[in-house]
Amino acid sequence: ATATIGVVGLAVMGSNLARNLASREGNTVAVYNRTTAKTDELIAEHPEAGFVRTTTVQELADSLQRPRTAIIMVKAGAATDAVIDELTEVFEPGDIIVDGGNALFTDTIRREAAIRDTGIHFVGCGISGGEEGALNGPSLMPGGPAESYETLGPILASIAAVAEDEPCVTHVGTDGAGHFVKMVHNGIEYADMQLIAEAYDLIRRGTGKSPAEIADVFQEWNSGELASYLIEITAEVLRQTDEATGEPLVDVILDAAGAKGTGAWTVQTALDLGVPVSGIAEAVFARSLSSRLGQREAARGLPGPSQEWTVDDPETFVEDVRQALFASKIVAYSQGFDEIAAGAAEHGWDIAKGDVAKIWRAGCIIRAQFLGRITEAYADDPDLSALLLAPYFRQALGEAQEAWRRVVVTAAQAGIPAPGFSSSLAYYDGLRAEQLPTALIQGQRDFFGAHTYRRTDRDGVFHTLWSGDRSEVSAD
Ligand code: 6PG
Repeated sequence: ATATIGVVGLAVMGSNLARNLASREGNTVAVYNRTTAKTDELIAEHPEAGFVRTTTVQELADSLQRPRTAIIMVKAGAATDAVIDELTEVFEPGDIIVDGGNALFTDTIRREAAIRDTGIHFVGCGISGGEEGALNGPSLMPGGPAESYETLGPILASIAAVAEDEPCVTHVGTDGAGHFVKMVHNGIEYADMQLIAEAYDLIRRGTGKSPAEIADVFQEWNSGELASYLIEITAEVLRQTDEATGEPLVDVILDAAGAKGTGAWTVQTALDLGVPVSGIAEAVFARSLSSRLGQREAARGLPGPSQEWTVDDPETFVEDVRQALFASKIVAYSQGFDEIAAGAAEHGWDIAKGDVAKIWRAGCIIRAQFLGRITEAYADDPDLSALLLAPYFRQALGEAQEAWRRVVVTAAQAGIPAPGFSSSLAYYDGLRAEQLPTALIQGQRDFFGAHTYRRTDRDGVFHTLWSGDRSEVSAD
């Protein structure tokens, strides 16, 4: 056996990860794909990688040094189960199977539990950074047994992105913790993208700037507190001209956003956990709305605001939008970290939130300067009740909130949808409210279903005899 690690599944992500592994000192990579032609293609294209060619899982197992480690990079779902079953047949106790796909964390929990008794370690590992990240350094979010991390950790660290001399990988927690955190990463990614899109839309319609001019705005923002990969690529996309028509590319791309499901999982899971991730949810729904082309077509004649919208001072408006974007982004991250905390509590994971922010600083899609602030916030106070309450974020929100309100008001008046900005602001105001109208909801629930309520002035549970003499009784 000569190989130190195996990669199963050689589509773009798998091939790139295999090449990344092979390029690091000390690694010899065995590659396997169900269709051998694909394996041969990769080997032929990259002789420098010194791949070990295997054509069956048995050959793969035979080629690997012990404890064997194989990373599965197949389409999440049934294919993952099939490969795990095959590998389980040929692997031995102590060997490690890593699933690097975007698996649903509950599947990962199930898979880990199912093979635990064989003594083989199963590690669900979130991998972020797209094709480019897989090749040059992704952000890695492994879960699974802590013991397996002793073998796996150094291998993953060797291929991970690096932020301030630290590899972007940590053992997130046991079983499905890695995939859970990757899922929330994607939810935040959806929110980030939606907020950026809203900012672009408002600036374009408010100031009449061209996409290329707005690209300059984003480029400038990229040198401030918003500095991030997504802001950077936004400028590039906006600057792109369509070859066929000479129009800005963004004007010829159909405005119906796709989604592969991880954003929806983040929201579904948050609903189950009772965590309000409204910013993320709006981002998922905004994509759904955009894709309902027939309905949108049918609704086109609905009336909008009767008054023309003009922006008096474009420069001030652009700055307001920047602040609204930053504030809404803080809300999205705060909500995402709430979901991580709730998931950890529910599933018994010991997740260091500051470390999660740390491994997102480079390699992944949501990489941003901002993440260093999150790490600092949790380092200063690991028990922070909400991320947005950390001093840095609290101050940033305080400074941005007036501009944020102006932007939301303007969007509503102009008839421009800004669901991310407005729902984040509503969340902010809801969270800081002295009193919420939910007392009334409790009253209504008690009225029609005797669902009971608690009081502000006394302990206990109460019910009003709504259909009787309307006196209050204890319902303890
Ligand atoms: C990443 C990305 C990656 C991908 C998702 C989301 O972290 O590298 O999140 O996993 O972009 O599949 O894609 P959709 O937008 O298609 O849901």
